[in-house]
Amino acid sequence: MPILKVITYPDKILRKPAKLIQDIDGGIQDLINDMAETMYAAPGVGLAAIQVGIDKSLLIYDLRSKEEKRSLQVLINPSIIASEGTFISEDEGCLSVPDFRANVKRAATILVEGVDRKGNPLRIEADGFLAVVLQHEIDHLSGKLFIDRISPLKRELYKRHMKKKLKRN
Ligand code: NI
Repeated sequence: MPILKVITYPDKILRKPAKLIQDIDGGIQDLINDMAETMYAAPGVGLAAIQVGIDKSLLIYDLRSKEEKRSLQVLINPSIIASEGTFISEDEGCLSVPDFRANVKRAATILVEGVDRKGNPLRIEADGFLAVVLQHEIDHLSGKLFIDRISPLKRELYKRHMKKKLKRN
């Protein structure tokens, strides 16, 4: 199973909205396996398909630490159907937004619906870190990055940093 290239800001692919998956076929299963390898190698706690260049409504996550047994979670065609409260997610980061972390305002509790990799319906009520991860990954599926949710000044500083970095390379 190959490790895939994670696309990084400012690549425009990250802005593409994901399409619903109609048929969870072998190609999707292979993609899930490759995404899992990629996420664990990074390492990261979540990854959306668009981050590896595939505009399909699919995300994976695993909140367990390295010491614990892996527990890969797969969410296909997810949507947030209800949300409540606010929560400041501290030092949020993203594999597609290198060299940067920021506090992000998120909903405190969310209700998410989707299907698993076998096509079984899923309904997840989440709060705390899980709610943050799900909101972050579901944002990716509509072409949003966490830097869209911070102050314009902070975002501008990050943009400049990346411009300089790209010039150096
Ligand atoms: Ni991300």
